[in-house]
Formats: sequence, C-alpha cells, structure tokens
Amino acid sequence: MRKYISILLITCSLFSLTGCEENQQTSTDNQTRDYTNLFSALPEQIIYPTDNPYSKEKEILGELLFWDPVLSGAQNVACASCHHPNFGWADGRAFSIGSDGVGLGPQRYGNETTPIHSPSIVNMAFTGLTMDTQLNEFVSGPYFWDLRATTLEEQAIGPIKNPVEMLGYHYSEAEIFDEIKYRLTTIPEYIDLFSAAFEGDDVITETNIAKALATFQRKVIANNSRFDLFLRGDISALSEGELIGLNKFIDVGCADCHNGPLLSDNQIRQDEKVIETLDAVRTPSLRNISQTAPYMQDGSQATLNDAISLYEDREDLGVNINEGDFNDIEVFLRTLSSPVYNHIPERVPSGLPVGGNIN
Ligand code: HEC
Ligand code: HEC
Repeated sequence: MRKYISILLITCSLFSLTGCEENQQTSTDNQTRDYTNLFSALPEQIIYPTDNPYSKEKEILGELLFWDPVLSGAQNVACASCHHPNFGWADGRAFSIGSDGVGLGPQRYGNETTPIHSPSIVNMAFTGLTMDTQLNEFVSGPYFWDLRATTLEEQAIGPIKNPVEMLGYHYSEAEIFDEIKYRLTTIPEYIDLFSAAFEGDDVITETNIAKALATFQRKVIANNSRFDLFLRGDISALSEGELIGLNKFIDVGCADCHNGPLLSDNQIRQDEKVIETLDAVRTPSLRNISQTAPYMQDGSQATLNDAISLYEDREDLGVNINEGDFNDIEVFLRTLSSPVYNHIPERVPSGLPVGGNIN
C-alpha cells in the first residue's frame, strides 16, 4: 500500500500542471484486489450437453470431418481451411475466403469472401458461461457474431450450406446433405466411424455430422492461462506489470462488457457499437486473444495494440483510456493465452487433401 501511495504522489507532482485528478485514473496500481465478482477461471473440465454427450468415437469422427473437404460442394474446403491451429484456430485474415479459395491464412486467395471476420473455435464448449452459471445445467451458446445459432450443433450446419463458405454453386442448400451422405456411404472407413459413434441403422445423417463436429470442437479448449492460475489462487502467476494492466482493464471500463470466465458477456451491444459504422455484434471472448490477429468483426485492427487503441476517447462506451494505457492493457491481455490442442491429422478418410486446398 505504501508503495502505491508513493507512486501516486510522484505521478501527481509530475503532472501537477495538468491536474492530479485526471491522472489518478491512469495510476499504476499493482495491488491485488478481490476479483471474484468480475472474473473466474475457466472450468478444468469440458462441459457437454445432455443431448450430445461425450464419446471418444464421436470426437475422433468429428475431428476427421472437421479436416475433410468432403463436406464441401466442390470437395475443396474444410472447416479447417478457416479455423486452423496455425492461426489460433481462426485464419489470420480480415475476411475469410471460402468455396473457391486456395492457400492458408493471409496467403489464401480467391473471390468468395465472407462479409465478416472468422472467429477462433477455441473454448466453444464454454461460450455463454457467466459468473452465475450452474455448471450442471449449462448449455453453451449462442454462437456467431450476431448470436443466430443457439447451439454448437446448429452452428455446424451453417457453413456447409453457405455458398460462400463451403457449398459453392453446384449444389443447392437443399441438395448438399444428400450428396454428402452419398459420398460418405461410399467410403468404408466413414461407415465404420459413424457406426462406432452412433446407434441405429441410418447413422450417416445431417444431425450426426453436426453432433460429431460439435463434439470435436468442444475438445479444443484453452483453460490454463496464467490468468486462470492467478484466479485459482496462485497470485505469483501475474507479474507486477500484468497486475497494473488488469487493474486498468477494470478501472477504465473494459470489464463492463469483457467480464466473466471468458472476458465476454456474450451480449450484443446495440447502442454501444465499438466500430460505429458497422453492425452491432456480440462482445467477443478475449481468451487466447494474442493468437488471433487481426481483430474486430471486420478484421480491421492488425495488432492487439491497434484493437485496444480503438477505445481511446470512447466515453460513449463507458470507456476512458489514453495512449499511456495501451501497453499496460496489452500486457494483461497477453496473460489470457493458454496452451491449446493443435494436432493436424496426417490424412482424412476421403483421401482428399487434409484441410482442403490450403497448401
Ligand atoms: C470460409 C471460411 C470458413 C469455413 C470453411 C468455416 N467457417 Fe466457421 N466461421 C467463419 C466465419 C467468417 C465465421 C463468423 C460468421 C458469423 O458470425 O456470421 C465463423 C463462425 C464459426 C463459429 C462460431 C464461433 C463463435 O464464437 O460464435 C464456429 C463454431 C465455426 N465457425 C465452426 C465451423 C465449422 C464446424 C466449420 C465446418 C463445418 C466451419 N466453421 C467452416 C469462417 C469459416
Ligand atoms: C460496451 C461494451 C464493451 C466495452 C466497454 C469494451 N468492449 Fe471490447 N469489444 C466489444 C465488442 C462488441 C467487440 C466487437 C466489436 C466489433 O468487432 O465490432 C469488442 C472487441 C474487442 C476486441 C477484439 C476481439 C476480437 O477477437 O477481435 C478487443 C481486443 C477488445 N474488445 C478489448 C477491449 C478493451 C481493452 C476494452 C477497454 C479499453 C474494451 N474492449 C471495452 C465490447 C466492449
């Protein structure tokens, strides 16, 4: 406490010309506080919904489907074309290139461009978690920037039926699952994988494809960042500089929207748009944020520092920061990174290129 006071005194005298009051807000407070009403560590266990419980077989099948371009109209795009572990399970691009794309990440080229930036699929199992969630009753979601998909299972069908993303223009939305079903039933390895994962005679269905994809995605979690260790009780997990950043993040107003276990309230802010000219979107999670540049719904912010700087002079959002705060906040946001599953299969059952035309 003594140290804190002396820092304040020094900054006050240094800035006495501009007034001390203004400066107190951006003081370098490195004291640990009680954060339990604002943040919590992520659960150490993955949470599965009761209507799609975990099984190893579903997870294995889902992983192969995620990487297999067999799910796309022209058999050239996979989920992994735009959600790749080399780019934090996003694609490192402002906008994604889908059904006619070639290449991976910033090098990918083509004309079929999504109107919105691809988010990472890390921590999808936890989307919607708040400080008050009862874990045994929790169902994750909703998903997408505009929250239009209620569940992760529902979400998985979206890109397969979207001409820009995976469908292309040779099949219609109504035809594509019959076509996919036909393709999969001619691949003996898939027949075995679906039969192992699901019960009944007719196992290669749209619903089961969605269930397998969702089960695999729930595996891709990042719940052991230094911030998690800190919140679980190891106060030495954050350095002094990181604590300063954390306290600033709260004091300047970021945590009004970026709070809870994911640093997101998962709410759409209709009247408080961060990018004023664009659509109102939900508050994104800030987990593993240092790995998923570029930022915002239009990918317009190349670096984390750029993204933070967008909040300068945004009293309308309830935020008050200036340039001197950008680095402190960035230092804190970098503590939100956690090791994440990053396996790339060597082959997929269709024999098509793993991840689609990404090489
Ligand atoms: C062409 C690139 C592309 C492909 C291929 C693609 N996605 Fe996405 N994905 C996106 C974009 C862009 C969004 C954001 C769309 C929106 O919010 O309207 C998104 C959103 C998502 C989300 C929601 C994330 C969140 O935080 O709400 C999930 C989950 C997801 N995709 C999984 C998948 C799966 C599973 C597949 C394969 C079946 C897939 N994606 C194929 C680009 C792609
Ligand atoms: C009023 C609610 C609100 C407040 C307050 C707020 N944010 Fe955000 N934040 C959002 C929304 C909504 C987005 C998505 C905006 C968009 O893409 O148009 C976002 C996006 C971001 C992103 C980019 C995430 C990504 O994956 O692209 C970062 C980083 C971020 N905010 C950090 C901050 C920081 C740092 C502060 C405090 C200085 C802050 N936010 C204050 C709601 C808020």
